[in-house]
Amino acid sequence: MDLNLKDKVGIITGAGRGIGKAIALILAREGANIIVNDIDIEVAQQVAEEIINLGRKALAIQSDISKVDDVNLMVETGMKEFGRIDILVNNASIIKRGTFEQLSEEDWDRAIDINLKGTFNCMKAVVGIMKKQRYGKIVNISSIAGKIGDLASAPCYGASKAGIACLGKSLARELASFNVNVNVVAPHAIETDMSREWPEEKRKNIIADIPLGRMGEPEDIAEAVAFLVSDKAKFITGEVLDVNGGCLMD
Ligand SMILES: NC(=O)c1ccc[n+]([C@@H]2O[C@H](COP(=O)([O-])OP(=O)(O)OC[C@H]3O[C@@H](n4cnc5c(N)ncnc54)[C@H](O)[C@@H]3O)[C@@H](O)[C@H]2O)c1
Repeated sequence: MDLNLKDKVGIITGAGRGIGKAIALILAREGANIIVNDIDIEVAQQVAEEIINLGRKALAIQSDISKVDDVNLMVETGMKEFGRIDILVNNASIIKRGTFEQLSEEDWDRAIDINLKGTFNCMKAVVGIMKKQRYGKIVNISSIAGKIGDLASAPCYGASKAGIACLGKSLARELASFNVNVNVVAPHAIETDMSREWPEEKRKNIIADIPLGRMGEPEDIAEAVAFLVSDKAKFITGEVLDVNGGCLMD
């Protein structure tokens, strides 16, 4: 299927590694030019170079998505360079391990600031542009934890991920008449730095609960996102798509 993203411009947050990197590279292979955001500029620059080697344009931008000024500057810089923003993938997040009782107020604030408010900041910065263009595709990366509660993380993570999904649905309603689609992807058990720190026993138990019998690869999420940001998915909005090997079927 040709997704036809030629010359579309996408911002991918947290695109320096893991799932965000896979999304940036797959969208670039489909023809898009990419603003590669990460708080870690070195990895963002490496991904931008890979994209340029594919023959696309790429801009690595270091910004902390929890900081509104950083995000606004990123979008302004992207607009100066490319003149439009067609795609926003809210992927950057942090995770916290531990129980509710171990969770401090600082942990809670940090998870909500980066995961949920960071997503709000990025949406806020691009929505006016997409409305004016009468074209836009937004995908928020949530998690199975945002649907059924935390499995391998502290409750600030699942709560922020449920917020991200709900924010996506609310914006989907508000922006539909402007030809802006907003969808959510809810992954589970994907091989990245975030999941590699699981103890071996936990990993075995998690895989045992996955009907497809394996951990997911970052590309499994990226392929789903590429479909959702393409016009092949133009009648889909407000959807929360599970990409989890069948471990939650709802
Ligand atoms: N890996 C999994 O099993 C899994 C499961 C469910 C959901 N997810 C979600 O998928 C997304 C990507 O996860 P991953 O496993 O690739 O994570 P990761 O930790 O490997 O990568 C996250 C990236 O985000 C960047 N980042 C962190 N804070 C940032 C900030 N404030 N501003 C900008 N960039 C920042 C990091 O530097 C890093 O490059 C996340 O939203 C995560 O919650 C992952």
